[in-house]
Amino acid sequence: MIPEITAYWNTRIHDLEMTDAPVGTRAFFDDLDDYRFDKLHYLPRLVDFAHGFGGKTVLEIGCGIGTDLVRFARGGAQVTGVDLSQTAIDLARKNFKAHGLTPVDLRTANGEALPFPDNTFDVVYAHGVVQYTSDPAQLIREAHRVLKPGGQAIFMVYNRVSWLNALSKVMKVTLEHEDAPGLRLFSIAEYRAMLTPFAEVQIMPERFPVKSRLHKGWKGLVFNTCFVGAFNALPTAWVRPLGWHLMAFCRK
Ligand SMILES: C[S@@+](CC[C@H](N)C(=O)[O-])C[C@H]1O[C@@H](n2cnc3c(N)ncnc32)[C@H](O)[C@@H]1O
Repeated sequence: MIPEITAYWNTRIHDLEMTDAPVGTRAFFDDLDDYRFDKLHYLPRLVDFAHGFGGKTVLEIGCGIGTDLVRFARGGAQVTGVDLSQTAIDLARKNFKAHGLTPVDLRTANGEALPFPDNTFDVVYAHGVVQYTSDPAQLIREAHRVLKPGGQAIFMVYNRVSWLNALSKVMKVTLEHEDAPGLRLFSIAEYRAMLTPFAEVQIMPERFPVKSRLHKGWKGLVFNTCFVGAFNALPTAWVRPLGWHLMAFCRK
């Protein structure tokens, strides 16, 4: 299925519709960074791109256009990025150039068969990637293999038992990239079982409903005016496991 997944991501740029700036310009990358970190405001709180990885070797699997990898590099990490998609890697190179940064290595590669020796990186990061690959457990094993002993892996997959999955079914709204070949959602238990190669695993559900410019019409109005407020008024202990993003912080 890897050729189908590659073909899909070669013709799609994640969040492309959120900017009018010409593709590949500094304004384009800045708009997509703004949109991403507005939507995912939990991310820099949990992953301290600016201060947490200075001097470390970081591999991002499925780096896309390099939005997060640029943040790691700005924080002083020595970054390597791989993605199946040539389109993504070409844009990631432009992104680094637009920011006056130099990655150690950016290239197309399959996260299920990484072209790196064992025990190479201090950190391996894959945000929104494991759920789109052909054999998620194999990608996790490869991340573990290339990580140094004691190194940290950070993953994010989508939660099947989540508010967004339930809402999309009730409101008949499609999820982002729902048509991507190979997409699968995980329960927390399934995710934990897949992460068994790691000595330590901490799973944190994140991404709770916030008002969105993506949802339009009456469905958008109901979502933005009723659902977001009602959900966020519920006790945290009830809603916490229902986050759409399952972040995992793992130690080899
Ligand atoms: C939803 S996008 C996420 C991109 C980026 N991580 C982000 O959060 O913006 C999924 C990316 O994973 C990449 N991908 C999927 N399977 C992969 C694999 N086996 N190896 C490398 N990249 C993969 C796709 O090409 C695509 O760029």
